[in-house]
Amino acid sequence: MTGQKIDGITVANSVKELVRASVSELKKDGVEPCLATILIGDDPASASYVTSKQKDCAEVGIITKDHRLPQEFSQMELDSLIDLLNNDKTVHGILVQLPLPKQLDEFSTTTRISPIKDVDGLTPYNVGLLASGRAILKPCTPSGIMELFDYYGIDLSGKNVVIINRSNLVGKPLYHLMLEKNATVTTCHSKTKNLKDLCLGADIVVTAVGNRAKFTLTADMIREGAVVIDVGTSRVNGKLAGDADYDGIIKKASYATPVPGGVGPMTRAMLLRNTVTAASISKGFATNR
Ligand SMILES: NC(=O)c1ccc[n+]([C@@H]2O[C@H](COP(=O)([O-])OP(=O)(O)OC[C@H]3O[C@@H](n4cnc5c(N)ncnc54)[C@H](OP(=O)(O)O)[C@@H]3O)[C@@H](O)[C@H]2O)c1
Repeated sequence: MTGQKIDGITVANSVKELVRASVSELKKDGVEPCLATILIGDDPASASYVTSKQKDCAEVGIITKDHRLPQEFSQMELDSLIDLLNNDKTVHGILVQLPLPKQLDEFSTTTRISPIKDVDGLTPYNVGLLASGRAILKPCTPSGIMELFDYYGIDLSGKNVVIINRSNLVGKPLYHLMLEKNATVTTCHSKTKNLKDLCLGADIVVTAVGNRAKFTLTADMIREGAVVIDVGTSRVNGKLAGDADYDGIIKKASYATPVPGGVGPMTRAMLLRNTVTAASISKGFATNR
């Protein structure tokens, strides 16, 4: 059996089309959706992520306000900037690019963002709503994965799912979203015992380790017909790769995401969707019911 590739680029394009249409509608109502980005320091990878996000916004008609600040920027200065953006009615979404330089505290920085402008879905308020099944602004990578299941008609109800990751960004929010869809979810991490046995028992495996030397998902670790979602990003022989040996996995899985071209484009598309949702919230259009 050869499984079907889950094409994140195609699904992301369909999300972007809908976002573009929503942006036009909002503009007719006098709302110009706007994302403020904050980048602190000179890490080239972070700089290129922010530039890509701004380019994505421009493609769908979302305005961006760029804030690039020096490496030694203080917590007090960052807090003041966030307060300013929280109170700026022309700004609908605030994105602070992580990781931050070591003098800055990620948790208190994220917590300072107004929950209605929290397009990464990482403020404690939105995390709480997510755990209660009531979130409007959800973290981009997990909600992008849920969008892939929807697009390909992969039903989660009653399925055994293994998520190999327990971060606030990926594993924990995805756990809640999949549980909400009636999956039976097991969250694994570096201390999990018998990981291979757990994977072999799963209908769906989501892997997000990002270090091939520590962990590689191979075909002998999944059951025939399983669905594999690969979030990890690492380098193999200088090339971008995921956690999974895609060529081996796709011969046994029913569906699998490649890296690149799987989860990555979805994460980017969901940021656009969250920004438009945040702009809609400012007009009282979005609800969590
Ligand atoms: N494509 C995308 O859009 C996208 C978005 C977000 C993240 N990512 C990628 O996803 C990966 C994870 O990101 P993250 O921010 O969640 O990183 P992270 O916080 O470092 O999470 C890595 C997870 O892998 C677990 N782990 C490490 N070694 C393991 C092992 N040998 N066996 C089982 N589990 C192991 C860790 O367990 P412990 O908790 O015990 O340490 C942790 O839960 C990275 O490669 C990142 O670049 C991609």
